Amino acid sequence: MASNSRSSIIHVSLMVAFLASNIALANDNVPIPAVKSQLNSWYHQNVKPLSQRKTTLDPSLVAAESAATVIKVMQDGSGNFKTINEAIKSIPKGNTKRVMVYIGSGTYNEKIRIEREKPFITLYGAPGKMPNLTYGGTALEYGTLDSATLIVESDYFVASNIIISNSAPRPDGKRKGAQAVALRASGDKATFYKVTLLGFQDTLCDDAHWHIYKDCLIQGTVDFVFGNGKTLFLNTELRVLGDEGMSVITAHARDKKTDDTGYSFVHCDVTGTGNGTLLGRAWMSKSKVVFAYSNIGCKDSNSSLDFFFFYIPFTCIFLHLQS
Ligand SMILES: *[C@@H]1O[C@H](CO)[C@@H](O)[C@H](O)[C@H]1NC(C)=O
Ligand SMILES: *[C@@H]1O[C@H](CO)[C@@H](O)[C@H](O)[C@H]1NC(C)=O
Ligand SMILES: *[C@@H]1O[C@H](CO)[C@@H](O)[C@H](O)[C@H]1NC(C)=O
Repeated sequence: MASNSRSSIIHVSLMVAFLASNIALANDNVPIPAVKSQLNSWYHQNVKPLSQRKTTLDPSLVAAESAATVIKVMQDGSGNFKTINEAIKSIPKGNTKRVMVYIGSGTYNEKIRIEREKPFITLYGAPGKMPNLTYGGTALEYGTLDSATLIVESDYFVASNIIISNSAPRPDGKRKGAQAVALRASGDKATFYKVTLLGFQDTLCDDAHWHIYKDCLIQGTVDFVFGNGKTLFLNTELRVLGDEGMSVITAHARDKKTDDTGYSFVHCDVTGTGNGTLLGRAWMSKSKVVFAYSNIGCKDSNSSLDFFFFYIPFTCIFLHLQS
C-alpha cells in the first residue's frame, strides 16, 4: 500500500506548467529518474513547447496562450504601472488571455490578491534582478490564510524569478497570531519556477489543487509548507531556520482517504539549522508527504539519505532528522 501511494503521488505530478509560452503537460508514464543530473531532461521531455502540445491541452488554455500580452511594472515609471496591484487591477475579471506581468527589480511593499476570476496570469522577474514582493501581514490581523503577501486564487497561474516574503517578525512563542504566510496558492494548475519564499512559521500555504514548484527555495521554521495541495516539488531547497526549539517542515492537510492530495518532494535538499526538525506532522488525519531522492541534512549532522519516505495513515508520525 505504501509503495503504491508513493508511486501514485510521484506520478500525480506533471500536469500543466508554463514558463512564458512553454507548456508543461505530461503523459507521465516515465518515472522521474533516480539520478538528479537527468531531472531536467526528463522535465523537458514532459514539458514540450506549446506548439507541440496544443491538441492535448484545455482549449481555453490554448486560446489564452495564443493571445499572450506583456505588461511591465517598473518602480521608476518606465513601465505600464508602478505597483503590482495596479497591474493586477488592469486585468479584467473573466480574463481569457495570458497576461505576463514583468516586474522590475526592487522591493514591493504590497499585499496582493489575484482573484478567482482572473486566470492565466504570470508574474515574472529577471534572474539576478528578482523583485521582492513583501508585506507584513500576520494571522492576528488577517487570519492565517489571508495573512499572505501574495494570494493566488485563480487557475493557470505562473511565477518565475521572484521573491515572495512576509516581513513580519519571527514568532517568539509569546505574541499571539504571529504566524505569517508569504504565498497562498489556492488556484488549480499553478507553476513556480525559481521562486524564493521567505518567512518563518507558515511561509507557504500550498492550499489546494495541482501545483509544481521547480528550482525554488522555501525558508521557514514551523509548518512552513502546509495545506491540502496535490503538489510536486522538484530540485527545491527547504531551508530550516531552526533554533533550540522544534522545527517542522510540512503540515499536510489531507483529510479523507478518498482525497488524492499530497506533497511529493523529489530531488530536493533539506538544509539549515535546528535541534530536532520534523519532516512533517499531520495537520489533518490522512496527511501524505513523500521525500524521494532527496538530501536531508542539518548543519551539525552528516545524515544524508538518498531515498526517504513516510506515509501517515491515521496519526502523526514525528521524524527527527537529528537527535
Ligand atoms: C526581501 O524581503 C524580506 C522581508 O522584508 C527580507 O527578509 C529579505 O531579505 C528581502 N530579500 C531580498 C533579496 O531583498
Ligand atoms: C536540543 O533539544 C534537546 C531535547 O529536546 C534539549 O535537551 C537540548 O538542550 C537542546 N539543545 C540545544 C542546544 O538547545
Ligand atoms: C561529518 O563528516 C566530516 C567529514 O567526513 C567529519 O569530519 C565530521 O566530524 C562529521 N560530523 C559529524 C557531526 O559527524
